[in-house]
Amino acid sequence: MSSFHSSQKNFLESEIFFVMMKLSLIERRQDMAYTAKDYNNLIGMEGFGETLLKNHFTLYQGYVTNTNKSFDTLSEMAKGGRIGTTEYAELKRRLGWEFNGMRLHEFYFENLGGKGALNKSGKLWKKLAEEFGSYENWEADFKGVGAMRGIGWAILYQDPVSGKLINQWVNEHDVGHPAGCNPLLILDVFEHAFMIDYGLKRADYIAAFFKNIKWEAVEGRMK
Ligand SMILES: [Fe+2]
Repeated sequence: MSSFHSSQKNFLESEIFFVMMKLSLIERRQDMAYTAKDYNNLIGMEGFGETLLKNHFTLYQGYVTNTNKSFDTLSEMAKGGRIGTTEYAELKRRLGWEFNGMRLHEFYFENLGGKGALNKSGKLWKKLAEEFGSYENWEADFKGVGAMRGIGWAILYQDPVSGKLINQWVNEHDVGHPAGCNPLLILDVFEHAFMIDYGLKRADYIAAFFKNIKWEAVEGRMK
């Protein structure tokens, strides 16, 4: 083979190598991207209209899309030497909103779709009674947190350090979470979660939420 042909062959081989590397990187990025989960199994839940749920699923899918976009853009900016820019800083701040918006909705939808009450002989009932005096006391407190003025989340957390249970108000997705705590039960009290069905009657929405809690999922989150 002439040296011309040989160098042409080497050139083609290296081109093929680079294309394959690029493809594998794209593939890897797609593997790492978050995928919106399907919660259509929740349609038909008592007290939750189909329109409300479908709107809520669409909103959740937006968080998944924006989480992926945020990670991609931050990665591109880092590679482009733009870590010190205000744009990078703002998007980095934004990431907490998008990521938590995605994950909190997943926890919320996944603790719905149940039928029965909390098992009175289970570890969660026992722990709630220990911490709050009774299950009923805990429920009244949790519902009270959910009914607070403002938009946000009511979350029952377990502190893995002390085991303590905390009914927490989270004002924005990215703000107010007790560090390192494990979310057990998540209630969305942003207006989109109930206004289509309940208008301003948030307490009625919270009552409907309680009828549909999937307690086995909540208890399963305990460490
Ligand atoms: Fe929501």
